[in-house]
Amino acid sequence: MTGTAVEMRGIHKGFGGPPVLRGVDFTLHTGEVHALAGGNGAGKSTLMKILQGVHRPDAGVIKVGGREVTFSSTKDAEAAGVGMVFQEFSLVPTLSVARNIFLNHEPRRFGLIDDKAMVREAGEILAGMGVDLDPKAEVQKLPTGYWQLTEIAKALALNATVLIMDEPTASLTKTESEALFALIERLKASGVSIVYISHRMQEIYRIGDRITILRDGGVVTSEALTDLTPEQIVEAIVGRRMENALEWQERDAAPEADAAPLLQVRNLTATNGVTDMSFSLRAGEILGLAGLMGSGRTELMRLLFGIDRPDSGEILLRGAPAGIDSPRAAINKGIALVPEDRRLQGLVLDHSVRENLLLPLLGGLTSRGVVSDKRGDGLAAGLIERLDIKLTSPKRPVRLLSGGNQQKVVIAKWLGREPDVLLLDEPTAGVDIGTKTEIIARIRELADAGMAVIVISSELAELLAVSDRVLVLRSGTVTADLDRRDIADEESLQLAIQGV
Ligand SMILES: Nc1ncnc2c1ncn2[C@@H]1O[C@H](COP(=O)(O)OP(=O)(O)OP(=O)(O)O)[C@@H](O)[C@H]1O
Ligand SMILES: [Mg+2]
Repeated sequence: MTGTAVEMRGIHKGFGGPPVLRGVDFTLHTGEVHALAGGNGAGKSTLMKILQGVHRPDAGVIKVGGREVTFSSTKDAEAAGVGMVFQEFSLVPTLSVARNIFLNHEPRRFGLIDDKAMVREAGEILAGMGVDLDPKAEVQKLPTGYWQLTEIAKALALNATVLIMDEPTASLTKTESEALFALIERLKASGVSIVYISHRMQEIYRIGDRITILRDGGVVTSEALTDLTPEQIVEAIVGRRMENALEWQERDAAPEADAAPLLQVRNLTATNGVTDMSFSLRAGEILGLAGLMGSGRTELMRLLFGIDRPDSGEILLRGAPAGIDSPRAAINKGIALVPEDRRLQGLVLDHSVRENLLLPLLGGLTSRGVVSDKRGDGLAAGLIERLDIKLTSPKRPVRLLSGGNQQKVVIAKWLGREPDVLLLDEPTAGVDIGTKTEIIARIRELADAGMAVIVISSELAELLAVSDRVLVLRSGTVTADLDRRDIADEESLQLAIQGV
């Protein structure tokens, strides 16, 4: 298939502050998967929101299917065949999956919403996607992985010929991601052109034909993926060579194997799926949790943080029963959790970046309930610099930050608190490669200073870069407890995870 599906020329955009896009050219060929990459805040979502009619460009020309267009709303873009799966969820949580898929263009009969037809058609779209999901289910009762799939179904229901996906796998499991890739292949074969925004190198190579890389609002590279090595892509994204990104180095300060455990888990069993789990964790140690979805990684963290309760077994802190019966109790015992769906749980979007960063620190900073301005400013500034959070002012609401920068705020606020035990569920999801490396370095520093850390990551390269020890979980129980030095490479860990 040949031809040009979308052409954007000389796109400029600012939101009052410094320009976000400065003269971007972007060409999407018909039937291709075009990866769009770049650091957090580089302008990827903004460029695509312009193509989707959410934002108006300050200057520039857009052509869809050869014809020049001016979109003043997403409805205009949809009418021209441009659909978008947003990075932030756009669903109405209290409505059913089917209602969300057909929101504002529900099939009607005699002027009334035809529920039967809607459920049937939604079911057909979901089945076509290879997704086993009840169209009548209420969205808010589903795990977030299904929200993403509902978003995709929603775009497909509009018969889009151009489909923009903004970090679609960020909240998907491995199986769901595979289903999505198969779906993308099918869409591509039928002539749909796809823009695929992602921070995950493996995915970009897996499904992308070409890649455009933005840095600080400008295009630095636009080429066929076969012509670029991962190192070249990383260099284009961060703007400098990063030879040892995600390379593991032994930590001098890692505790000895015979050091006394800080945390002990003994025969832990709970209805959430954890079954007879046992392990221990020393102060100053970083323990990686490896396993497939449903292996019990997140469930274990929920037990350790007091969200769920065990049915039997015990959790000991410094040799004594931990008594963690609620998140509040866990926090009081010096345990902190950075949850997986942190955009829903971890931020007050309308509050300023500063307030969000300082929230967990308030205890140490207040005198009669008032945050000391100077100390607060200093701390916030330190965290912002450390994690390279891109913003115009820490006093502005967190919702104005790019997706990845919002993630960084949640991580920074817990890294700033310095608990005894830190639980991190997918800490670098949605974060660019440069910052990933920075977050890993920060976690290792915290461990050097004596903090005990448990990390979940589905990206094995990352898990291997950060961990001193790796616990392999399957069906809610521990199947291997490995010293990092004994794990040769990603492949051997993958085999251990799959149990072969
Ligand atoms: N509505 C808005 N008002 C003010 N600033 C905005 C708005 N939307 C985006 N920005 C700013 O524009 C810049 C680019 O944001 P954008 O969301 O396009 O980045 P991105 O490349 O998608 O990053 P990420 O990988 O983190 O998702 C950021 O600095 C962001 O704070
Ligand atoms: Mg974005």
